[in-house]
Amino acid sequence: MSYPRHRYRRLRRSESLRSLVRETSLSPRDFIAPLFVVPGENLRQPVPSMPGVDRFSPDLAAKEAVELKKLGVLSVILFGIPATKDARGSTSADPDGPVCRAVRGIKSESKETIVMTDVCLCEYTDHGHCGILDGENVHNDETLKVLAAEAVAQAKAGADVIAPSDMMDGRVAAIREALDKERFEDVAILSYAAKYASGFYGPFREAAESTPSFGDRRSYQMDPANVREALKEIAADVEEGADMVMVKPALSYLDVVRAAKESTNVPLATYNVSGEYAMVKAAGRNGWIDEKRVTLEILTSMKRAGADLILTYHAKEAAAWLA
Ligand code: PBG
Repeated sequence: MSYPRHRYRRLRRSESLRSLVRETSLSPRDFIAPLFVVPGENLRQPVPSMPGVDRFSPDLAAKEAVELKKLGVLSVILFGIPATKDARGSTSADPDGPVCRAVRGIKSESKETIVMTDVCLCEYTDHGHCGILDGENVHNDETLKVLAAEAVAQAKAGADVIAPSDMMDGRVAAIREALDKERFEDVAILSYAAKYASGFYGPFREAAESTPSFGDRRSYQMDPANVREALKEIAADVEEGADMVMVKPALSYLDVVRAAKESTNVPLATYNVSGEYAMVKAAGRNGWIDEKRVTLEILTSMKRAGADLILTYHAKEAAAWLA
């Protein structure tokens, strides 16, 4: 018999007691801060649908990485907005493109910062799809070569971790092979293994100028209704050589995060995506929620579900709150 012998409220009486028995903790080290990088210099452009998020030119991205480091956030992931786009996403492997320039800049100003780079073609193609088109279909195997070249260019610039988000089959193996061939065997791969075709990516596509010009991404990203399929994707990516895997989005997919945690031993990341961020900011600005409290509760829920790492636009502010 439980009550009155057991009174759960005994351990909730003070903040000290609560913190003594707290099961989950958040640290700035858990966060990976996404940075949007544009060509040019001395540019800082606010993203309207993501208050508090700016697009930076490579020089200012390096300064931002230094600020993040001071707050304890040691990882960033870069997304590039190139000066020009074409059908094959050719500028994705440009060593002088914004991402490669930012990698070099960050590494020279903040060598402890772990620089991750998103590998995908949607920011680089004029049609906005994540691969090479064959009619209206994204051709899987044609796309692999272009992704591998993008990854090698980023590794040459000094990226520590390559993060493919395109959802082509076999891309982890293709990228691993290309990296090893160029003697980048120590560059790690964080695979967006279970990435869903989600409505929560809207603000990101505004920031990255990557909305598809026709159709949608449902023929390559996962159906939101599936969880067993996520475990197959994760197992396949680990088998192909992924060092870490990711579930994306996060908030509506915490059951997938938990299932992923139970099925694999590699470090697990989750992506607290742009739409999740925008909703919190909008409600906070309207005075409808306590923004700081809700943000920390959301981030805690992701760790509690099993994420080791959280990609989040809240990284900087949350790190400051946790200090
Ligand atoms: C694709 C990519 C996307 C995001 C990260 N990488 C967009 C998409 O698949 O359409 C979305 C991230 C977010 O919404 O924060 N390169």
